[in-house]
Amino acid sequence: MRITINQIREMKEKGEKITMLTAYDYSTAKIVDQVGVPLILVGDSLGMVMLGYESTIPVTMEEMLHHTKAVVRGTEQALVVGDMPFMTYHVSVEQCLQNAARFIQEAGCQTIKLEGGVTVADKVRRVVECGIPVMGHIGLTPQSIHQFGGHRAQGKTPEAAIRILEDAQALEEAGVFAIVLETVPAPLAALITEKVSVPTIGIGAGIGCDGQVQVINDLLGSFTDFVPRHAKQYAKLADIIRDAVSEYHEEVKAGTFPTKKHSLSMDESVLAELKAR
Ligand code: KIV
Repeated sequence: MRITINQIREMKEKGEKITMLTAYDYSTAKIVDQVGVPLILVGDSLGMVMLGYESTIPVTMEEMLHHTKAVVRGTEQALVVGDMPFMTYHVSVEQCLQNAARFIQEAGCQTIKLEGGVTVADKVRRVVECGIPVMGHIGLTPQSIHQFGGHRAQGKTPEAAIRILEDAQALEEAGVFAIVLETVPAPLAALITEKVSVPTIGIGAGIGCDGQVQVINDLLGSFTDFVPRHAKQYAKLADIIRDAVSEYHEEVKAGTFPTKKHSLSMDESVLAELKAR
């Protein structure tokens, strides 16, 4: 049985911390799911860590659906959140509804996430009314980096902090089941967490949130272009992969791989017949 949005909400009520992690493929999603992580986000961060784009902005619906389908196939218990890409929900409520529905109908995930607060509240309300659970995302919203002038912390001035609090309240009022708070001061995130009834999931937003989310490639140390300040590397997978690939490369060149163990034998009589032809 998959976790439901009600169970996620109850975790906040009970004071249980909520873990969310991104995944973009079947095999990784399966491991994350088996560990018992309740929320898996197929983030548009896949544009950077999987597809090598410079930002999340070029990511398309088709790319998101492709990866979301794989993650859904790899999971049994986690609630899967599909991330709506840039400009696939901004144009109109209709456009937002149609694309949100594609995540649920075509990709098979249970919820969607979109970036923005007050400015997207009308869209969130309509999507929720139509039966699709929505996760909000405010603070440093990576789809707006050109507006922010880069990946910069948000909510540092009183005016900016008030705007983020208002965004959180607008999302709560519009019916989101949870809100991601990205790269905002820890005290602001803690205050928002107190003021809204829905769970907050932080990334670079301190310990005062109801839960935490990380990009799995940052956590595993498999993305080497840069390490965000908020990321903790629990493994150095890039080194492990590099060592394994080098060993394979050396063994192929030296003729020590494959061995008999990795090869198929053939009946001597069949071989003799072939040779006689
Ligand atoms: O795309 C993503 O992975 C995200 C998380 C960083 C919250 O939006």
